[in-house]
Amino acid sequence: MSGLFIVFEGIDGSGKTGLCKRVHEALTAEGRTTIVTQEPTSDEIGSLIRKDGIPDITPAAEALLFTADRAVHTQRIARWLEEGVTVLCDRYFASTAAYQSAAAGRDPAFTEWLLQMNLPVIRMPDLTFLLDLDAEEGEERVNGRGAASRYEELAYQREVRKAYLDLAERFDFKIIAADRGRDEVLEEVLQLIRSVF
Ligand code: TYD
Repeated sequence: MSGLFIVFEGIDGSGKTGLCKRVHEALTAEGRTTIVTQEPTSDEIGSLIRKDGIPDITPAAEALLFTADRAVHTQRIARWLEEGVTVLCDRYFASTAAYQSAAAGRDPAFTEWLLQMNLPVIRMPDLTFLLDLDAEEGEERVNGRGAASRYEELAYQREVRKAYLDLAERFDFKIIAADRGRDEVLEEVLQLIRSVF
């Protein structure tokens, strides 16, 4: 039997990475073979775009690299799923459709290009969770309470959040209120996963 493909999305500071880890622990304890993976990957292409990035890169060039990284990653994901492993993926195609769309002013034609470029090279997840959070709250979690955040970064994360909410409607993502305690978020997510198993 093929494994489940579950994706976690959200703005910076939304808590995806920690949640993935806790979901992994919970499913493993229940006896399910589960793997956590993330994008950008640490493969050759993923490493190019991680962290400091490339000087003078454009949203389109970034999108092409993130998507190339994803196309290679998807082959690995497909193999795990065929082996019956449940795959928990921290970011997938919606990250490109949200972040690079926001970087290009959420121009509808550009957003459509991002999606049309991604859809042929991805595997559609069985379940996508959007950890929805205020940009201000996300910044506080990333920088620590009281730390000043750059106005442009905050404005950018706000646009990323809007782009994510549009995608959630189009692709039927499960929107999870991420401004709650970790245990509450984990329980809601686990219940939804169990209902799909
Ligand atoms: P990541 O390492 O997941 O950071 P975090 O742990 O904060 O989520 O992602 C690094 C950054 O890369 C993050 O700000 C989102 C961005 N990103 C894109 O802009 N497009 C993409 O397609 C992906 C996968 C990530």
